Amino acid sequence: MNHRDLPRVLVAGGTGYIGGGVLEVLQQQGFWVRALCRAPHRLQEPSRCNDIFVGHATRPETLKGLCQGIDVVFSSIGTRSFRRKPTLWEVDYQGNLNLLEAAKREGVKHFIFVSVVRGAEMERLSPIAEAREKVAQAVKESGMDYTIFAPTGFFNDMAEFFFAAQKRGAIRLFGEGLGKINPLSALDFGEEVARVILASEWRNTVREVGGCETFTHRQIAELAFQALDQEPQIHSLSPWAVSLVAALLRPFNYNAYALFKFFEFVARTPDVTGEALGWRRLEDFLANLAQGMSPIEAERALRPSPRANQPEDSTSLGAVEATSEVSQSAKARLRARFEHFAQLRAKYGTAQAIEMLRASLPERQKTLMNPFIAGVPLAEGFRRSIPIFEQLGMEMEVVDLSNQDKDAVLEIQRVCPYRELAAEFGLSSPCQITCDLEVEAIPQAFPDLKGRILSKLARGDCVCLFKYERESDRHHKEENHGSTSDWQSQCA
Ligand SMILES: NC(=O)c1ccc[n+]([C@@H]2O[C@H](COP(=O)([O-])OP(=O)(O)OC[C@H]3O[C@@H](n4cnc5c(N)ncnc54)[C@H](OP(=O)(O)O)[C@@H]3O)[C@@H](O)[C@H]2O)c1
Repeated sequence: MNHRDLPRVLVAGGTGYIGGGVLEVLQQQGFWVRALCRAPHRLQEPSRCNDIFVGHATRPETLKGLCQGIDVVFSSIGTRSFRRKPTLWEVDYQGNLNLLEAAKREGVKHFIFVSVVRGAEMERLSPIAEAREKVAQAVKESGMDYTIFAPTGFFNDMAEFFFAAQKRGAIRLFGEGLGKINPLSALDFGEEVARVILASEWRNTVREVGGCETFTHRQIAELAFQALDQEPQIHSLSPWAVSLVAALLRPFNYNAYALFKFFEFVARTPDVTGEALGWRRLEDFLANLAQGMSPIEAERALRPSPRANQPEDSTSLGAVEATSEVSQSAKARLRARFEHFAQLRAKYGTAQAIEMLRASLPERQKTLMNPFIAGVPLAEGFRRSIPIFEQLGMEMEVVDLSNQDKDAVLEIQRVCPYRELAAEFGLSSPCQITCDLEVEAIPQAFPDLKGRILSKLARGDCVCLFKYERESDRHHKEENHGSTSDWQSQCA
Protein backbone atom coordinates (compact mmCIF):
# COMPACT_ATOMS: atom_id res chain seq x y z
CA MET A 1 0.00 0.00 0.00
CA ASN A 2 1.41 3.44 -0.81
CA HIS A 3 0.28 6.85 0.33
CA ARG A 4 -2.32 7.08 -2.44
CA ASP A 5 -4.39 4.49 -0.53
CA LEU A 6 -3.92 6.03 2.91
CA PRO A 7 -5.71 8.97 4.52
CA ARG A 8 -4.04 12.35 3.92
CA VAL A 9 -2.97 13.86 7.19
CA LEU A 10 -2.25 17.42 8.34
CA VAL A 11 0.13 17.59 11.30
CA ALA A 12 0.06 20.81 13.34
CA GLY A 13 2.82 20.99 15.94
CA GLY A 14 5.30 19.03 13.81
CA THR A 15 8.16 21.41 14.69
CA GLY A 16 7.70 20.42 18.33
CA TYR A 17 8.51 17.26 20.22
CA ILE A 18 5.17 15.39 20.19
CA GLY A 19 4.12 16.48 16.68
CA GLY A 20 7.66 15.81 15.44
CA GLY A 21 7.41 12.18 16.62
CA VAL A 22 4.00 11.79 15.00
CA LEU A 23 5.22 13.35 11.75
CA GLU A 24 8.23 11.04 11.64
CA VAL A 25 6.19 7.86 12.12
CA LEU A 26 3.51 8.89 9.59
CA GLN A 27 6.22 9.67 7.03
CA GLN A 28 7.91 6.32 7.66
CA GLN A 29 4.61 4.49 7.24
CA GLY A 30 3.93 6.07 3.87
CA PHE A 31 1.13 8.47 4.77
CA TRP A 32 0.76 11.59 2.66
CA VAL A 33 1.57 14.32 5.17
CA ARG A 34 1.21 18.10 5.15
CA ALA A 35 2.92 19.97 7.98
CA LEU A 36 1.62 23.30 9.27
CA CYS A 37 4.42 25.47 10.53
CA ARG A 38 5.48 29.04 11.08
CA ALA A 39 9.12 28.35 10.26
CA PRO A 40 9.73 25.29 8.01
CA HIS A 41 13.42 25.14 8.94
CA ARG A 42 12.33 23.98 12.40
CA LEU A 43 10.98 20.71 10.98
CA GLN A 44 13.34 17.78 11.57
CA GLU A 45 13.20 16.58 7.96
CA PRO A 46 11.28 19.07 5.80
CA SER A 47 12.13 17.18 2.63
CA ARG A 48 10.15 14.16 3.80
CA CYS A 49 6.88 16.12 4.07
CA ASN A 50 4.66 15.86 1.02
CA ASP A 51 3.61 19.44 1.57
CA ILE A 52 4.50 22.25 3.95
CA PHE A 53 1.90 24.91 4.67
CA VAL A 54 3.36 28.06 6.14
CA GLY A 55 0.83 29.67 8.47
CA HIS A 56 0.19 30.75 12.05
CA ALA A 57 -2.43 28.80 14.00
CA THR A 58 -3.10 31.97 15.98
CA ARG A 59 -3.87 34.00 12.82
CA PRO A 60 -6.89 32.49 11.03
CA GLU A 61 -6.36 34.68 7.95
CA THR A 62 -3.15 32.70 7.26
CA LEU A 63 -4.94 29.32 7.31
CA LYS A 64 -7.02 29.52 4.12
CA GLY A 65 -6.70 26.27 2.15
CA LEU A 66 -4.82 24.60 4.99
CA CYS A 67 -7.11 21.56 5.13
CA GLN A 68 -7.93 21.30 1.44
CA GLY A 69 -7.72 17.61 0.42
CA ILE A 70 -7.00 16.54 3.99
CA ASP A 71 -8.79 13.59 5.66
CA VAL A 72 -7.30 13.73 9.16
CA VAL A 73 -5.95 16.62 11.24
CA PHE A 74 -3.59 15.97 14.14
CA SER A 75 -2.76 18.86 16.48
CA SER A 76 -0.37 19.07 19.41
CA ILE A 77 0.12 22.83 19.12
CA GLY A 78 0.70 24.48 22.46
CA THR A 79 3.03 26.78 24.32
CA ARG A 80 5.23 25.41 27.09
CA SER A 81 7.17 28.58 27.45
CA PHE A 82 8.00 30.88 30.35
CA ARG A 83 7.77 33.79 27.88
CA ARG A 84 4.94 36.18 28.67
CA LYS A 85 3.54 36.40 25.14
CA PRO A 86 1.66 34.90 23.40
CA THR A 87 -0.36 33.47 26.28
CA LEU A 88 -1.51 29.89 26.39
CA TRP A 89 -5.07 31.14 25.79
CA GLU A 90 -3.89 32.60 22.47
CA VAL A 91 -2.02 29.44 21.43
CA ASP A 92 -3.33 26.30 23.19
CA TYR A 93 -6.92 27.52 23.12
CA GLN A 94 -7.53 29.96 20.27
CA GLY A 95 -4.84 28.54 17.96
CA ASN A 96 -6.35 25.06 18.17
CA LEU A 97 -9.91 26.39 17.79
CA ASN A 98 -8.77 28.16 14.60
CA LEU A 99 -7.47 24.83 13.29
CA LEU A 100 -10.72 23.13 14.23
CA GLU A 101 -12.69 25.74 12.29
CA ALA A 102 -10.44 25.34 9.24
CA ALA A 103 -10.88 21.56 9.42
CA LYS A 104 -14.68 21.78 9.69
CA ARG A 105 -14.88 24.30 6.86
CA GLU A 106 -12.84 22.14 4.50
CA GLY A 107 -14.57 18.81 5.15
CA VAL A 108 -11.98 16.99 7.27
CA LYS A 109 -13.33 13.67 8.56
CA HIS A 110 -11.28 13.01 11.69
CA PHE A 111 -9.65 15.39 14.21
CA ILE A 112 -7.01 14.09 16.63
CA PHE A 113 -6.11 16.37 19.51
CA VAL A 114 -3.56 16.14 22.31
CA SER A 115 -4.88 17.27 25.69
CA VAL A 116 -3.33 16.42 29.08
CA VAL A 117 -3.72 13.49 31.45
CA ARG A 118 -6.40 13.93 34.16
CA GLY A 119 -7.51 17.03 32.26
CA ALA A 120 -10.98 17.07 33.78
CA GLU A 121 -9.61 16.92 37.37
CA MET A 122 -6.79 19.29 36.61
CA GLU A 123 -8.74 22.01 34.88
CA ARG A 124 -9.85 23.65 38.17
CA LEU A 125 -6.22 24.08 39.21
CA SER A 126 -4.30 24.43 35.96
CA PRO A 127 -5.08 26.91 33.16
CA ILE A 128 -3.11 24.70 30.72
CA ALA A 129 -5.50 21.82 31.40
CA GLU A 130 -8.48 24.18 31.31
CA ALA A 131 -7.55 25.57 27.88
CA ARG A 132 -6.87 22.13 26.38
CA GLU A 133 -9.99 20.57 27.88
CA LYS A 134 -12.09 23.35 26.39
CA VAL A 135 -10.60 22.60 22.98
CA ALA A 136 -11.20 18.87 23.53
CA GLN A 137 -14.84 19.65 24.25
CA ALA A 138 -15.14 21.74 21.08
CA VAL A 139 -13.56 18.90 19.08
CA LYS A 140 -16.12 16.45 20.48
CA GLU A 141 -18.95 18.80 19.50
CA SER A 142 -17.55 19.55 16.05
CA GLY A 143 -19.49 16.84 14.21
CA MET A 144 -16.22 15.34 12.92
CA ASP A 145 -14.96 11.97 14.14
CA TYR A 146 -12.48 12.63 16.91
CA THR A 147 -9.80 11.02 19.02
CA ILE A 148 -8.65 12.90 22.10
CA PHE A 149 -5.38 11.74 23.57
CA ALA A 150 -4.71 12.76 27.16
CA PRO A 151 -1.07 11.78 27.61
CA THR A 152 0.95 11.74 30.77
CA GLY A 153 4.51 13.17 30.62
CA PHE A 154 6.66 12.36 27.60
CA PHE A 155 10.33 11.37 27.44
CA ASN A 156 11.24 14.99 26.65
CA ASP A 157 10.00 16.02 30.10
CA MET A 158 12.04 13.21 31.65
CA ALA A 159 15.07 14.46 29.72
CA GLU A 160 14.75 17.63 31.84
CA PHE A 161 15.59 15.53 34.92
CA PHE A 162 18.66 14.27 33.10
CA PHE A 163 19.82 17.74 32.00
CA ALA A 164 19.30 19.17 35.51
CA ALA A 165 21.43 16.36 36.95
CA GLN A 166 24.06 16.89 34.25
CA LYS A 167 24.25 20.70 34.51
CA ARG A 168 23.59 21.32 38.19
CA GLY A 169 24.45 17.97 39.77
CA ALA A 170 21.07 18.06 41.54
CA ILE A 171 17.39 17.52 40.76
CA ARG A 172 14.59 19.40 42.46
CA LEU A 173 11.30 17.49 42.57
CA PHE A 174 7.88 19.06 42.88
CA GLY A 175 6.61 17.42 46.09
CA GLU A 176 8.22 14.30 47.50
CA GLY A 177 8.23 12.71 44.05
CA LEU A 178 6.21 9.68 45.12
CA GLY A 179 3.45 10.12 42.53
CA LYS A 180 3.40 7.54 39.73
CA ILE A 181 3.86 8.28 36.06
CA ASN A 182 4.46 6.12 32.96
CA PRO A 183 6.40 8.36 30.56
CA LEU A 184 5.74 7.99 26.87
CA SER A 185 8.04 8.21 23.87
CA ALA A 186 6.90 10.47 21.02
CA LEU A 187 7.68 7.67 18.55
CA ASP A 188 5.56 5.14 20.47
CA PHE A 189 2.85 7.78 20.53
CA GLY A 190 3.25 8.37 16.79
CA GLU A 191 2.78 4.65 16.17
CA GLU A 192 -0.46 4.76 18.15
CA VAL A 193 -1.65 7.80 16.20
CA ALA A 194 -1.00 5.91 12.95
CA ARG A 195 -3.02 2.98 14.28
CA VAL A 196 -5.87 5.26 15.33
CA ILE A 197 -5.99 6.87 11.89
CA LEU A 198 -6.43 3.46 10.27
CA ALA A 199 -8.58 1.58 12.77
CA SER A 200 -12.05 2.95 13.24
CA GLU A 201 -12.48 1.30 16.65
CA TRP A 202 -10.67 4.23 18.27
CA ARG A 203 -12.95 6.89 16.74
CA ASN A 204 -14.81 9.14 19.15
CA THR A 205 -12.83 8.12 22.18
CA VAL A 206 -10.83 9.95 24.85
CA ARG A 207 -7.75 8.01 25.86
CA GLU A 208 -5.42 8.68 28.77
CA VAL A 209 -2.15 7.22 27.58
CA GLY A 210 1.40 6.67 28.80
CA GLY A 211 4.39 4.45 28.15
CA CYS A 212 5.12 0.80 28.94
CA GLU A 213 6.80 1.31 32.36
CA THR A 214 5.61 3.04 35.50
CA PHE A 215 7.89 4.88 37.91
CA THR A 216 7.65 7.38 40.71
CA HIS A 217 9.16 10.78 39.90
CA ARG A 218 11.85 10.06 42.46
CA GLN A 219 12.78 6.82 40.67
CA ILE A 220 13.09 8.74 37.41
CA ALA A 221 15.46 11.21 39.11
CA GLU A 222 17.48 8.22 40.35
CA LEU A 223 17.56 6.76 36.84
CA ALA A 224 18.91 10.06 35.51
CA PHE A 225 21.78 9.98 38.00
CA GLN A 226 22.37 6.29 37.25
CA ALA A 227 22.67 7.09 33.52
CA LEU A 228 25.31 9.72 34.40
CA ASP A 229 27.01 7.43 36.89
CA GLN A 230 26.65 10.12 39.59
CA GLU A 231 25.54 10.03 43.23
CA PRO A 232 21.88 11.14 43.41
CA GLN A 233 21.31 14.63 44.82
CA ILE A 234 17.53 14.96 45.01
CA HIS A 235 15.69 17.81 46.73
CA SER A 236 11.98 18.45 47.16
CA LEU A 237 9.90 21.59 46.80
CA SER A 238 6.65 21.24 48.75
CA PRO A 239 3.38 21.65 46.85
CA TRP A 240 2.71 24.72 49.05
CA ALA A 241 5.94 26.32 47.92
CA VAL A 242 5.08 25.56 44.27
CA SER A 243 1.66 27.12 44.80
CA LEU A 244 3.24 30.22 46.38
CA VAL A 245 5.68 30.66 43.49
CA ALA A 246 2.74 30.38 41.07
CA ALA A 247 0.77 33.06 42.98
CA LEU A 248 3.77 35.41 42.98
CA LEU A 249 4.27 34.97 39.24
CA ARG A 250 0.65 35.45 38.24
CA PRO A 251 0.54 39.28 38.02
CA PHE A 252 3.71 39.43 35.89
CA ASN A 253 3.79 36.30 33.77
CA TYR A 254 0.63 34.28 33.15
CA ASN A 255 2.37 31.49 31.21
CA ALA A 256 4.89 30.93 34.01
CA TYR A 257 2.07 30.96 36.56
CA ALA A 258 0.19 28.33 34.48
CA LEU A 259 3.25 26.07 34.28
CA PHE A 260 3.72 26.23 38.07
CA LYS A 261 0.03 25.39 38.61
CA PHE A 262 0.61 22.39 36.35
CA PHE A 263 3.64 21.35 38.45
CA GLU A 264 1.56 21.81 41.60
CA PHE A 265 -1.08 19.43 40.26
CA VAL A 266 1.58 16.84 39.48
CA ALA A 267 3.10 17.28 42.96
CA ARG A 268 -0.28 16.76 44.62
CA THR A 269 -1.51 13.83 42.52
CA PRO A 270 -0.48 10.29 43.49
CA ASP A 271 -1.06 8.78 40.07
CA VAL A 272 -0.86 10.41 36.63
CA THR A 273 -0.44 7.20 34.66
CA GLY A 274 -2.35 6.35 31.48
CA GLU A 275 -3.02 3.25 29.37
CA ALA A 276 0.35 1.66 28.60
CA LEU A 277 1.50 2.05 24.98
CA GLY A 278 4.63 1.09 23.08
CA TRP A 279 7.87 -0.60 24.01
CA ARG A 280 10.50 2.13 24.29
CA ARG A 281 12.22 2.13 27.70
CA LEU A 282 13.13 5.22 29.65
CA GLU A 283 16.32 3.75 31.08
CA ASP A 284 17.67 3.05 27.57
CA PHE A 285 16.62 6.55 26.46
CA LEU A 286 18.53 8.14 29.37
CA ALA A 287 21.55 5.96 28.60
CA ASN A 288 21.49 7.31 25.03
CA LEU A 289 21.33 10.90 26.34
CA ALA A 290 24.38 10.12 28.43
CA GLN A 291 26.16 9.18 25.16
CA GLY A 292 25.64 12.78 24.06
CA MET A 293 22.62 12.22 21.81
CA SER A 294 19.85 14.79 21.55
CA PRO A 295 16.44 13.64 22.89
CA ILE A 296 15.12 12.84 19.43
CA GLU A 297 18.29 10.97 18.43
CA ALA A 298 18.13 9.13 21.75
CA GLU A 299 14.62 7.93 20.91
CA ARG A 300 15.45 7.01 17.33
CA ALA A 301 18.37 4.88 18.50
CA LEU A 302 16.16 2.74 20.76
CA ARG A 303 15.59 -0.88 19.71
CA PRO A 304 13.03 -3.33 21.10
CA SER A 305 14.58 -5.29 23.90
CA PRO A 306 13.37 -8.58 25.39
CA ARG A 307 13.60 -6.85 28.78
CA ALA A 308 10.76 -4.47 27.99
CA ASN A 309 7.87 -4.96 30.41
CA GLN A 310 9.48 -7.84 32.26
CA PRO A 311 9.10 -7.34 35.98
CA GLU A 312 12.41 -8.84 37.06
CA ASP A 313 14.37 -6.32 34.98
CA SER A 314 12.14 -3.32 35.30
CA THR A 315 12.47 -3.45 39.08
CA SER A 316 16.22 -2.80 38.78
CA LEU A 317 15.47 0.73 39.91
CA GLY A 318 11.95 -0.03 40.96
CA ALA A 319 9.60 0.34 38.02
CA VAL A 320 6.23 -0.44 39.53
CA GLU A 321 3.26 -2.39 38.27
CA ALA A 322 4.32 -2.35 34.64
CA THR A 323 3.34 -5.87 33.76
CA SER A 324 -0.19 -6.06 35.07
CA GLU A 325 -1.13 -2.69 33.59
CA VAL A 326 0.29 -3.57 30.20
CA SER A 327 -1.41 -6.90 30.31
CA GLN A 328 -4.80 -5.33 31.13
CA SER A 329 -4.39 -2.84 28.32
CA ALA A 330 -3.32 -5.56 25.88
CA LYS A 331 -6.32 -7.68 26.82
CA ALA A 332 -8.61 -4.70 26.36
CA ARG A 333 -7.19 -4.29 22.85
CA LEU A 334 -7.87 -7.93 21.99
CA ARG A 335 -11.41 -7.52 23.14
CA ALA A 336 -11.80 -4.23 21.28
CA ARG A 337 -11.08 -6.03 18.03
CA PHE A 338 -13.94 -8.49 18.59
CA GLU A 339 -16.27 -5.70 19.70
CA HIS A 340 -15.40 -3.71 16.61
CA PHE A 341 -16.06 -6.76 14.45
CA ALA A 342 -19.42 -7.35 16.17
CA GLN A 343 -20.44 -3.72 15.47
CA LEU A 344 -19.47 -4.01 11.81
CA ARG A 345 -21.20 -7.37 11.48
CA ALA A 346 -24.44 -5.95 12.97
CA LYS A 347 -24.36 -3.13 10.43
CA TYR A 348 -23.00 -4.75 7.25
CA GLY A 349 -23.19 -8.54 7.67
CA THR A 350 -20.32 -11.00 8.30
CA ALA A 351 -18.67 -11.04 4.87
CA GLN A 352 -18.52 -7.25 4.56
CA ALA A 353 -17.32 -6.89 8.16
CA ILE A 354 -14.40 -9.25 7.45
CA GLU A 355 -13.57 -7.28 4.28
CA MET A 356 -13.47 -4.07 6.31
CA LEU A 357 -11.08 -5.59 8.84
CA ARG A 358 -8.96 -6.94 5.99
CA ALA A 359 -8.56 -3.45 4.51
CA SER A 360 -7.00 -2.00 7.68
CA LEU A 361 -4.63 -4.88 8.40
CA PRO A 362 -1.62 -4.27 6.14
CA GLU A 363 -0.90 -0.93 7.79
CA ARG A 364 -1.57 -2.33 11.24
CA GLN A 365 0.88 -5.18 10.56
CA LYS A 366 3.47 -2.73 9.32
CA THR A 367 3.11 -0.62 12.45
CA LEU A 368 3.30 -3.59 14.79
CA MET A 369 6.01 -5.64 13.14
CA ASN A 370 8.33 -3.10 11.57
CA PRO A 371 10.02 -2.00 14.82
CA PHE A 372 10.91 -5.63 15.47
CA ILE A 373 12.00 -6.96 12.08
CA ALA A 374 13.51 -3.94 10.32
CA GLY A 375 17.26 -4.31 9.96
CA VAL A 376 17.64 -7.52 11.99
CA PRO A 377 17.26 -11.24 11.16
CA LEU A 378 13.68 -12.44 11.53
CA ALA A 379 14.51 -14.85 14.36
CA GLU A 380 16.06 -12.03 16.39
CA GLY A 381 13.10 -9.74 15.76
CA PHE A 382 10.55 -12.40 16.64
CA ARG A 383 12.42 -13.29 19.84
CA ARG A 384 12.35 -9.65 20.88
CA SER A 385 8.59 -9.64 20.49
CA ILE A 386 8.06 -12.54 22.91
CA PRO A 387 7.36 -10.33 26.00
CA ILE A 388 4.56 -8.62 24.13
CA PHE A 389 2.87 -11.94 23.34
CA GLU A 390 3.43 -13.07 26.92
CA GLN A 391 1.41 -10.08 28.13
CA LEU A 392 -1.54 -11.71 26.38
CA GLY A 393 -0.95 -14.99 28.16
CA MET A 394 0.58 -16.58 25.05
CA GLU A 395 3.50 -19.01 25.21
CA MET A 396 5.74 -18.42 22.27
CA GLU A 397 8.85 -20.07 20.93
CA VAL A 398 10.92 -19.02 17.96
CA VAL A 399 13.01 -21.34 15.78
CA ASP A 400 15.49 -19.88 13.33
CA LEU A 401 15.02 -21.65 9.97
CA SER A 402 17.45 -19.48 8.03
CA ASN A 403 19.84 -20.94 5.50
CA GLN A 404 22.21 -19.48 2.95
CA ASP A 405 19.41 -18.07 0.80
CA LYS A 406 16.58 -17.45 3.20
CA ASP A 407 16.06 -15.45 6.36
CA ALA A 408 13.28 -17.59 7.85
CA VAL A 409 11.62 -18.26 11.16
CA LEU A 410 9.09 -20.60 12.72
CA GLU A 411 6.80 -19.01 15.31
CA ILE A 412 5.22 -21.51 17.71
CA GLN A 413 2.26 -20.44 19.86
CA ARG A 414 1.03 -22.90 22.49
CA VAL A 415 -1.89 -20.81 23.77
CA CYS A 416 -4.52 -19.00 21.71
CA PRO A 417 -5.97 -16.09 23.72
CA TYR A 418 -8.71 -15.54 21.16
CA ARG A 419 -10.65 -18.78 21.49
CA GLU A 420 -12.87 -17.77 24.41
CA LEU A 421 -13.51 -14.37 22.86
CA ALA A 422 -14.51 -16.03 19.57
CA ALA A 423 -17.02 -18.24 21.38
CA GLU A 424 -18.37 -15.23 23.28
CA PHE A 425 -18.88 -13.32 20.02
CA GLY A 426 -20.53 -16.30 18.28
CA LEU A 427 -17.65 -17.27 15.97
CA SER A 428 -16.80 -20.92 15.36
CA SER A 429 -13.10 -20.03 15.13
CA PRO A 430 -11.17 -16.84 15.93
CA CYS A 431 -8.74 -17.32 13.04
CA GLN A 432 -10.93 -15.75 10.36
CA ILE A 433 -10.79 -12.33 12.04
CA THR A 434 -7.33 -12.59 13.60
CA CYS A 435 -4.35 -14.61 12.40
CA ASP A 436 -5.72 -15.55 8.95
CA LEU A 437 -6.13 -11.87 8.10
CA GLU A 438 -2.86 -10.87 9.72
CA VAL A 439 -0.80 -13.41 7.78
CA GLU A 440 -2.66 -12.61 4.58
CA ALA A 441 -1.75 -8.92 5.07
CA ILE A 442 1.98 -9.66 5.31
CA PRO A 443 2.93 -9.30 1.61
CA GLN A 444 1.09 -5.97 1.40
CA ALA A 445 2.77 -4.70 4.56
CA PHE A 446 6.20 -6.12 3.65
CA PRO A 447 6.51 -6.97 -0.06
CA ASP A 448 9.68 -9.03 0.59
CA LEU A 449 8.15 -11.20 3.33
CA LYS A 450 6.06 -14.36 2.94
CA GLY A 451 3.94 -15.78 5.77
CA ARG A 452 2.07 -19.09 6.09
CA ILE A 453 0.04 -20.74 8.82
CA LEU A 454 1.08 -24.40 9.13
CA SER A 455 -1.14 -25.52 12.00
CA LYS A 456 -3.91 -24.04 14.12
CA LEU A 457 -4.92 -24.66 17.73
CA ALA A 458 -8.45 -23.61 16.84
CA ARG A 459 -8.60 -26.50 14.34
CA GLY A 460 -7.57 -29.03 17.00
CA ASP A 461 -3.77 -29.01 16.42
CA CYS A 462 -1.56 -28.89 19.50
CA VAL A 463 0.06 -25.56 18.51
CA CYS A 464 -0.33 -22.68 16.11
CA LEU A 465 2.64 -22.69 13.75
CA PHE A 466 3.55 -19.75 11.56
CA LYS A 467 6.39 -19.71 9.04
CA TYR A 468 7.82 -16.43 7.73
CA GLU A 469 10.59 -16.07 5.20
CA ARG A 470 12.32 -13.51 3.01
CA GLU A 471 15.44 -13.46 0.89
CA SER A 472 18.54 -13.53 3.03
CA ASP A 473 20.27 -10.18 3.41
CA ARG A 474 23.87 -11.32 3.17
CA HIS A 475 25.27 -7.92 3.79
CA HIS A 476 23.23 -7.58 6.93
CA LYS A 477 24.29 -10.97 8.25
CA GLU A 478 27.91 -10.18 7.55
CA GLU A 479 27.70 -6.91 9.43
CA ASN A 480 25.88 -8.22 12.45
CA HIS A 481 26.94 -11.80 12.74
CA GLY A 482 30.56 -12.00 11.80
CA SER A 483 32.34 -12.48 8.49
CA THR A 484 30.95 -14.31 5.45
CA SER A 485 33.22 -17.25 6.11
CA ASP A 486 31.97 -17.56 9.73
CA TRP A 487 28.45 -17.55 8.45
CA GLN A 488 29.14 -20.06 5.69
CA SER A 489 30.93 -22.36 8.06
CA GLN A 490 27.91 -22.29 10.37
CA CYS A 491 25.76 -23.38 7.43
CA ALA A 492 28.16 -26.10 6.33
N1 LIG B 1 5.46 17.07 26.30
C1 LIG B 1 4.68 16.56 27.25
O1 LIG B 1 5.14 15.88 28.17
C2 LIG B 1 3.17 16.78 27.18
C3 LIG B 1 2.34 15.90 27.87
C4 LIG B 1 0.97 16.04 27.75
C5 LIG B 1 0.44 17.06 26.99
N2 LIG B 1 1.26 17.93 26.33
C6 LIG B 1 0.64 19.03 25.55
O2 LIG B 1 1.11 18.97 24.22
C7 LIG B 1 1.56 20.27 23.80
C8 LIG B 1 2.76 20.10 22.87
O3 LIG B 1 3.83 19.48 23.57
P1 LIG B 1 5.29 19.40 22.91
O4 LIG B 1 6.15 18.73 23.92
O5 LIG B 1 5.22 18.86 21.55
O6 LIG B 1 5.66 20.96 22.86
P2 LIG B 1 6.73 21.70 21.93
O7 LIG B 1 7.87 20.81 21.61
O8 LIG B 1 7.01 23.00 22.59
O9 LIG B 1 5.93 21.98 20.55
C9 LIG B 1 4.92 22.94 20.51
C10 LIG B 1 4.39 23.09 19.10
O10 LIG B 1 3.41 24.13 19.11
C11 LIG B 1 3.80 25.17 18.20
N3 LIG B 1 3.56 26.52 18.73
C12 LIG B 1 4.00 27.02 19.90
N4 LIG B 1 3.64 28.32 19.98
C13 LIG B 1 2.99 28.63 18.84
C14 LIG B 1 2.37 29.80 18.33
N5 LIG B 1 2.39 30.95 19.02
N6 LIG B 1 1.80 29.75 17.12
C15 LIG B 1 1.79 28.60 16.40
N7 LIG B 1 2.36 27.46 16.81
C16 LIG B 1 2.95 27.47 18.03
C17 LIG B 1 5.29 25.03 18.02
O11 LIG B 1 5.62 25.59 16.76
P3 LIG B 1 6.93 26.55 16.56
O12 LIG B 1 8.06 25.58 16.35
O13 LIG B 1 6.60 27.36 15.37
O14 LIG B 1 7.08 27.34 17.83
C18 LIG B 1 5.47 23.51 18.10
O15 LIG B 1 5.24 22.90 16.85
C19 LIG B 1 1.93 21.02 25.09
O16 LIG B 1 1.71 22.40 24.95
C20 LIG B 1 1.07 20.38 26.15
O17 LIG B 1 -0.07 21.16 26.45
C21 LIG B 1 2.61 17.81 26.40
